[in-house]
Amino acid sequence: MKIIGLISLLPILNFCDGRKNVLFLVADDMRPELGCYYGDDFPSKIHPLMHTPNIDALARRSLLLKRAYVQQAVCSPSRTSLLTGRRPDTTHIYDLHSYFRDIGGNFTTIPQYFKMNGYTSVGMGKIFHQGHASNNDDPISWSMPYFHAPNQAYWINSNVSSWRAVSETEMKENPLPDKQITDRAMEVLKNVAPDAKSGKKPFFVAVGFHKPHLPFVFPDKMLQYYPKESIHLPDNEYAPVNMPEIAWRNCKGLLMKPDLQQKNVTMDMNVTFPSQVTLDLRRAYYSAISWIDSLIGRVLTELDDLGLSNNTIVSFFGDHGWQLGEHGAWCKMTNFELATHAPMMIHIPGMTEGGIVSEELTEFVDLFPTLAEAAELSPLQLCPITSSNISLCREGTSLMPLIKEPNTPLKRAAFSQYPRKVNDTIFNVMGYTMRTEKYRYTEWAKFSGAPAYGPDWNILFGVELYDHQTDPDENYNRAMDSSYATIRQSLSQQLRAGWRKAVLLRVPSESDILG
Ligand SMILES: *[C@@H]1O[C@H](CO)[C@@H](O)[C@H](O)[C@H]1NC(C)=O
Ligand SMILES: *[C@@H]1O[C@H](CO)[C@@H](O)[C@H](O)[C@H]1NC(C)=O
Ligand SMILES: *[C@@H]1O[C@H](CO)[C@@H](O)[C@H](O)[C@H]1NC(C)=O
Ligand SMILES: *[C@@H]1O[C@H](CO)[C@@H](O)[C@H](O)[C@H]1NC(C)=O
Ligand SMILES: *[C@@H]1O[C@H](CO)[C@@H](O)[C@H](O)[C@H]1NC(C)=O
Ligand SMILES: *[C@@H]1O[C@H](CO)[C@@H](O)[C@H](O)[C@H]1NC(C)=O
Ligand SMILES: *[C@@H]1O[C@H](CO)[C@@H](O)[C@H](O)[C@H]1NC(C)=O
Repeated sequence: MKIIGLISLLPILNFCDGRKNVLFLVADDMRPELGCYYGDDFPSKIHPLMHTPNIDALARRSLLLKRAYVQQAVCSPSRTSLLTGRRPDTTHIYDLHSYFRDIGGNFTTIPQYFKMNGYTSVGMGKIFHQGHASNNDDPISWSMPYFHAPNQAYWINSNVSSWRAVSETEMKENPLPDKQITDRAMEVLKNVAPDAKSGKKPFFVAVGFHKPHLPFVFPDKMLQYYPKESIHLPDNEYAPVNMPEIAWRNCKGLLMKPDLQQKNVTMDMNVTFPSQVTLDLRRAYYSAISWIDSLIGRVLTELDDLGLSNNTIVSFFGDHGWQLGEHGAWCKMTNFELATHAPMMIHIPGMTEGGIVSEELTEFVDLFPTLAEAAELSPLQLCPITSSNISLCREGTSLMPLIKEPNTPLKRAAFSQYPRKVNDTIFNVMGYTMRTEKYRYTEWAKFSGAPAYGPDWNILFGVELYDHQTDPDENYNRAMDSSYATIRQSLSQQLRAGWRKAVLLRVPSESDILG
């Protein structure tokens, strides 16, 4: 009897054994200003004292993608692209208002795919861009009601200065939103743990932190990690030499903060804040990162305490980079390395324990196929050129080969883009940019939206070529240098050929679609 019982249970046990949970952690506006990113390859200097012990520890047991690039350096377009596994010219999401299911297609998202595969899919905080841009957090993606921090409005109201260090007493009265999200995450993990451990139902839990997005609000004790004398100005507070004007973006959101309005700074090109303002903002940004690091530590400790760590995939990324006064620029919304380069790491139990560092070029659209493969769900097929009617497909590449061989190039270049409005109320110019091993190359081309959604390469508004071998900070645009003419020509061809031609690892059946 006993033996028969066991045998009949075995297939179920085996099935459940293979079902890994997913903890999906997201930070807002966090560039790779993290201890685990120290090294020669990061173009901008990382503050030497970054205090990020929890994210660093996660990196030490993860596949750490040191050169991962977002597809568009602003919240909703970047998140929509990652969550659907498709690029902005397919999602048609370039702004903070439009919803991809209305104008791109009825695409399956990462949490939705896990939900369809029998997972309990729970989201909280900022995963999709809130409001209209996601039809209020894309309800179809989740199997439980979505959670937002009750105190969010209190702390992001326009009356809050660009940064603020909050005292313990004040935090007790009005807990910071990210603390409320963390408490919720821990509660949710407790609730989903029994079913996950018994093998009844695995979970996909997505936790989206709001910081280090503006305003930089954090517990005052975080300042102790960043003594004032350790904070320095960037050494390139000027726009790149020969930069076309269209590459520039004035960060009006920062200027509108009440404390900075008083400074009477226009923030036009080569006009920057007084030094003390820049130093204070940098210190506050670093402190906000350490705040999020401490919260990520709490969530990961809870996962451990619940005995779930050894069967839970943990992914972490920041939705795009951020300019912290370099080039005299602030915020995101550009095609510079600082805005397009963002942190990404994936812990897969039993596969990444020793820590795997890859410096290969990777893209945020790669996360969807990677998580699907790591969790052993059906792999995603490569999207054909037009995929508006295809609910599930991918425009990225699974990063799993990097676990076995972190030095396998998967693509020749990483692609990003950023739109602009030139004398118009709609996006009519698109900056297409590409990071190769040695260069960043950008063409700002005339762009048509619906129904074509594409560039006219014959009408250019600016070209940029930065040589990362000699100029990792992107201070000199070489596009017009005669000594770079040949390189420019070949980079231009490569950019216009697009991401499909840059993919290196191809399974035979894909060659048709890649074209
Ligand atoms: C979108 O796709 C989902 C399944 O992925 C389906 O349930 C839903 O009805 C579709 N919505 C529309 C408007 O077609
Ligand atoms: C900001 O203003 C709102 C609305 O007037 C108020 O409720 C809130 O307490 C203020 N927040 C802070 C941090 O002062
Ligand atoms: C900004 O400063 C750089 C470096 O000094 C200079 O090359 C560039 O022409 C300036 N741009 C503008 C618009 O003033
Ligand atoms: C602010 O800037 C404007 C334009 O440059 C100038 O006219 C005005 O005097 C400045 N005000 C102060 C308080 O510096
Ligand atoms: C995972 O951890 C739990 C609790 O610590 C333990 O019972 C189980 O054997 C572990 N599983 C694996 C595959 O290591
Ligand atoms: C998508 O489906 C709709 C309705 O079936 C059809 O009218 C449209 O032509 C299709 N579009 C593409 C690009 O296949
Ligand atoms: C935009 O308008 C300005 C002012 O009318 C004009 O000088 C400029 O050439 C226009 N730019 C483009 C790209 O049409």
